[in-house]
Amino acid sequence: MTDRLAELTEEILASIAGATSADDLALIEKTALARKGELLSLMRGIKDLPPEQRSSFGQSVNAARGRLEATLAERRDEFTSARLTAEAGSTSFDASEPALMPMGQGHLHPITLVRREVEAIFMGLGFSVADGPEVETEEYNFDLLNIPRHHPARDLQDTMWLASGHVMRTHTSPVQLRAMRRANGVPPVRVIAPGRVFRNEQRDATHEHTFHQVEGLMVDEGVSVADLKGMLALVLSRIFGSRVEVRLRPHYFPFVEPGFELDMRRVGAAESDEWLEMLGCGMVHPEVLRAGGFDPERVSGFAFGMGLDRLAMMRFGIEDVRWMMSGDPRFLQQF
Ligand code: FA5
Repeated sequence: MTDRLAELTEEILASIAGATSADDLALIEKTALARKGELLSLMRGIKDLPPEQRSSFGQSVNAARGRLEATLAERRDEFTSARLTAEAGSTSFDASEPALMPMGQGHLHPITLVRREVEAIFMGLGFSVADGPEVETEEYNFDLLNIPRHHPARDLQDTMWLASGHVMRTHTSPVQLRAMRRANGVPPVRVIAPGRVFRNEQRDATHEHTFHQVEGLMVDEGVSVADLKGMLALVLSRIFGSRVEVRLRPHYFPFVEPGFELDMRRVGAAESDEWLEMLGCGMVHPEVLRAGGFDPERVSGFAFGMGLDRLAMMRFGIEDVRWMMSGDPRFLQQF
């Protein structure tokens, strides 16, 4: 039995060595180690041996089995790595290639597009771009803009107050003061300040609670309403081409005197193109110039606050301002 075990082991080892594929190998393993195979029947024969031979035969069988299993595992690994090498050679996998993005490159928001356009036009006219905080002090949002506490003008803009006593800025006008104070009383000041503003508003097709404005401020000697009107007409016609009509209506804003509202509409467009209130503007109030560190006897200034959402609506024919903050990809993908 010991001789036959040795013979059988050599036969199986030879067939393992001769296997040409992983399937071959699996078949050899199945047959060699099968329940009804010769190896197992030799093992079962152990009980027929004289007791003194049983132990050493048992050890031989275990050793033979261990050798076969190790050889089988070794060959299996060889076939696996050969298959992987072949696959790697036949496919064009390149780990350094950039991933393909199924969503494409993304889109700039219409407000961003319009904001950049406005910035470029004003920068071409000698303005610089200023910034201010969205969480403002009561002083900058109201007091310094000639809107004292308990004055009814505070109710013109429904304000979101924070527990700290700060406000979510209701307009970009506080940046006027920040820009003037930065200039230390030395003219000229020529800035625009785009940004997000917040109001406790009832939402509808033309009103959002979170929207965007661009503030404009020019302070120098001899600045007049004609400068204000001329500059705004120029900028809007650059944005829309010459197909734009604007009108100024007298309007009360505490921080300008005189104050106006500017409406615009596109000329020659569809009938549905109605006058849309676009911005508030006027000549900077003497109190505001003083608060900004300028002498109203020496310099004058104009200021305006333009609704960027409404500008984008007219520019792209968007009928409802609520799309802007919706985050809806069906809307965003159009730009
Ligand atoms: C102001 O906010 C003034 N600070 C503007 C100003 C600046 C006047 C400098 C004079 C000098 P008003 O509340 O009208 O004004 O808002 C200005 C513009 O923001 C409006 O013309 C409109 O285009 C836009 N706007 C106002 N409320 C909303 C809203 N709820 N949703 C979307 N756009 C709005």
